[in-house]
Amino acid sequence: MKLTKNFAAATMLAGVATAFSFLSAGTAQAQGALVMYCGVQEEWCRAMTTAFERETGIKVAMTRKSSGEIYAQVKAEAANPRADIWWGGTGDPHMQAAEEDLTVEYKSPKNEELQDWAVRQWEQAKHRTIGIYSGALGFGYNTELIKSKGVEPKCWADLLTPKLKDEVQMADPNSSGTAYTLLATIIQIMGEEKGFEYLKALHKNVNQYTKSGAAPAKAMALGETTVGIAFMHDIVTMVVDKAPIKVVAPCEGTGYEIGSMSIIKGAKNMDNAKKFYDWALTPAAQKLGAEAKSYQVPSNKSTPVPPEAPKLNEIKLINFDFAKYGSSEERKRLLSKWDNEVKNLPK
Ligand code: F6P
Repeated sequence: MKLTKNFAAATMLAGVATAFSFLSAGTAQAQGALVMYCGVQEEWCRAMTTAFERETGIKVAMTRKSSGEIYAQVKAEAANPRADIWWGGTGDPHMQAAEEDLTVEYKSPKNEELQDWAVRQWEQAKHRTIGIYSGALGFGYNTELIKSKGVEPKCWADLLTPKLKDEVQMADPNSSGTAYTLLATIIQIMGEEKGFEYLKALHKNVNQYTKSGAAPAKAMALGETTVGIAFMHDIVTMVVDKAPIKVVAPCEGTGYEIGSMSIIKGAKNMDNAKKFYDWALTPAAQKLGAEAKSYQVPSNKSTPVPPEAPKLNEIKLINFDFAKYGSSEERKRLLSKWDNEVKNLPK
């Protein structure tokens, strides 16, 4: 009986100890972890992860996806968020998430070091997202493949020629912020009716709607498509790697992105998310982009602009309405209109 009693006590104690060690393991993990959804190129995501881990000892679990995909995942996980920080990707789904209360307000002490456009993004999103980089949309063509086509496109309008049938690649705006930027750009340049006419005509020349926005730039480099619509900095990366590609800033003017960062509402590692946020706005962190061959314009005024970055002041940029095209209603409406009227049109 005595034995049994002792055994019971020992078992209970062991149970308590196990529960205790579980608890402390959980706490230790919570102190040392960060879950990041990353919206830029894999190389840059990895460079950020490694540098932040080295700097802080905080272990980062990173997942890379396209802008619209991250938004969809954050929304699907809203009741029990997995991610703490959403870093990168175009600003529109960050703005939409802000409006839908999926992200939280935060004011970083680094705000005062940022370019006006980065802070404006933060103000328009009621302090729930902030600009981390900027870059202009454009297209490129493979200079070898274009020879037999008898065209040299310089303008958005030039991409409609039947000579480029099945020769143009772009991403799907549902998954890709790049392609949504194209949709919003064309509408702002041409008006909605003419803009959709343009996108329907362009559809005839599109060989594939890719998931990621940078994929058409890579496909151009591999000779899989003659023309690729993408952010100009993603095309420049291919040129730096010696691909035979010409980068074009379209003659009618073009749109641009404000790549953004947001903290997820209900983040389990909130303090670490804020630590990452502040760090990601420093020049030391931002210059990792160029080192990973990503040539956007960084948002901290003191981060050197990579010499390879397309010069935004030399490109005819439209006065992009980020608030309108990042609003939940407008983004949803335009994406479903594109799905219904363009994506499945016969060629
Ligand atoms: O990192 C390249 C990049 O073009 C970013 O500048 C941009 O925010 C993001 O990718 C867009 O990717 P996607 O079109 O796949 O959402």
